[in-house]
Amino acid sequence: MAEHAEADKKHINKYKMAHMIGCAEYMRDNAYRYGLEDRKDEMYVIGLLHDVGYLGGRDGHERYGAELLRGMGLSEEHVYAIKNHRSHPDDLRKAGMAITPELLLLWDADLSIGRTGYNVGHYERLKDIRRRYGDDGAPRACLDEIRKYRIKRCPERTSPPKESGGCAREACER
Ligand SMILES: [Fe+2]
Repeated sequence: MAEHAEADKKHINKYKMAHMIGCAEYMRDNAYRYGLEDRKDEMYVIGLLHDVGYLGGRDGHERYGAELLRGMGLSEEHVYAIKNHRSHPDDLRKAGMAITPELLLLWDADLSIGRTGYNVGHYERLKDIRRRYGDDGAPRACLDEIRKYRIKRCPERTSPPKESGGCAREACER
């Protein structure tokens, strides 16, 4: 009971910190899947800070966090990923906004790492998000974008590599 009361606080708590650390590690370790392997440390920082806007409460946390970090000098491409980490891909397209590799990687991390900071996989994470927050269709649509992007990068592979070694296909970027 006490555990849930703490987890439901609107500010940053130990669960949110665990989730952000897990996302940071996921983004660093999976940067290569999105052509960002030479910016692994930057991806770590995006993951570590992406939910810092919870300081102002859950609603609008992505926008608040983005503005906070912009004011502290974070680059626009990183601010953009954080600001849109809860956006529906269709809404971004309709607005003529880009779905960048940084944003895809952040979606991938956020939809893999559970509230205790461990990688629970897309399926379990989606179930947990639906249970806790309801379903507006955005997480599922983000996962579809991730899948499409990965297939485009490596048409012969339709599922993530089993091991961290990536795709063995010659000249494959993954
Ligand atoms: Fe978030």
